[in-house]
Amino acid sequence: MRGSAYTLGQKTIIADEMKNRALLNQKTASELITLYRSPLYVYDLAKLKERVKELLDYCKTIDCTVRYAIKANPHPRIIKLFDELGLHFDASSDYEADEAVSAGVDPVKISLSSQQPPGDMNKTLRSGIKFVATSLHQLDLVSKAARKENIAVRLNPGLGAGHNRRTTTGGVISSFGVWHEYIPKVLDWQLQTGININRVHIHIGSGGDSQIWRQAIQKSLELVNQMPSVEILNMGGGYSIARVAGEESADMSQIMTVFKYELANFAKQTGRHLRLEIEPGTWLVGNAGFLLCKIVDIVDTGKRGFNFIKLDSGMNDLLRPAMYGAQHPIEVLNNSKSTKDYVVVGHNCETGDIMTPAPGDPEGIKPRNLPEGAIGDLVVIGGAGAYGASMRVVGYNSFPSATEVFINE
Ligand SMILES: Cc1ncc(COP(=O)(O)O)c(C=O)c1O
Repeated sequence: MRGSAYTLGQKTIIADEMKNRALLNQKTASELITLYRSPLYVYDLAKLKERVKELLDYCKTIDCTVRYAIKANPHPRIIKLFDELGLHFDASSDYEADEAVSAGVDPVKISLSSQQPPGDMNKTLRSGIKFVATSLHQLDLVSKAARKENIAVRLNPGLGAGHNRRTTTGGVISSFGVWHEYIPKVLDWQLQTGININRVHIHIGSGGDSQIWRQAIQKSLELVNQMPSVEILNMGGGYSIARVAGEESADMSQIMTVFKYELANFAKQTGRHLRLEIEPGTWLVGNAGFLLCKIVDIVDTGKRGFNFIKLDSGMNDLLRPAMYGAQHPIEVLNNSKSTKDYVVVGHNCETGDIMTPAPGDPEGIKPRNLPEGAIGDLVVIGGAGAYGASMRVVGYNSFPSATEVFINE
């Protein structure tokens, strides 16, 4: 089932994706802060639309349903926009699914794949939401429910890729999905219950190596080959974006070409024509969001120490740097001609609240060369549209969360 007609190209760094860092110039930023309070999440509607259109364009030549992974950013305005633009949705809890329905999404457009079983399996199955069982226990719950129809099963293919171990959702370190060696148990369940499994769901992680996709779909197809009733293969999300120079961005055009080739190859060998689904979150919204905040203090730790910029925001609004050592572009919005190396920190009473960690190492610090700042200067942190507001920490130090606003209607 392996083919080699298409190879993913060299790792691509799409510097273009970073150009929107200049979007929030000083004037726009100060106007927004005057209208609202700091800190502020700012989302660029034009950029969001552009990303969806670009992706749908890549999918034109292949029978593919694009589901937006709601967890990346569940703002109702984004959900409504993506619904209007023709996307379907992936929810990671029944609460997330309910929020999408409240935003106006038809339940049949929602796929629910949750670590925790829905509170009321009957209600979920009745609603029309497409349910994905993510464990043998969840399969058991489906068989006990009154309504039984086509369902999906999430498999752990034994292969994972994330931008670090914490975002890897495949392989032996991951609890997500039914371990691939248990497919015989799944088939047995299907035989015993008579419930049809028409879809397989795989999600190997977020932001991993953009070259992994051929291997991922080949492995997935090997598993689907063992499950004759499956008609749809959901390859999940995880397509990386470049937030700062040096990071790589998944080339969706090439990835879709590889998927198309491998599915055609599978059809040739098995006579089975599978429908493809993907469910990106980050790729669609990551670089369309910014966290706008203010410098509230500047301190240093002497000649052998560091210069610190303290913000009126931090890990309570944007957890990724403290949690993953994730890199986000940071700009100090002033007209300073001189620069300085700064460690940018958040306002939480927590040493780990660092916005400039060493790449991939939340415990390390890597000062950034930034325009010399002053208390009161505005700071914009880019690449904050995905897993920013949605992963905020509410309650710590009782800081209020950043407000969310949209620009470029
Ligand atoms: C099941 C599933 N699908 C899709 C996604 C979206 O991933 P990303 O935002 O990296 O595209 C995730 C993220 O964790 C996920 O768990």
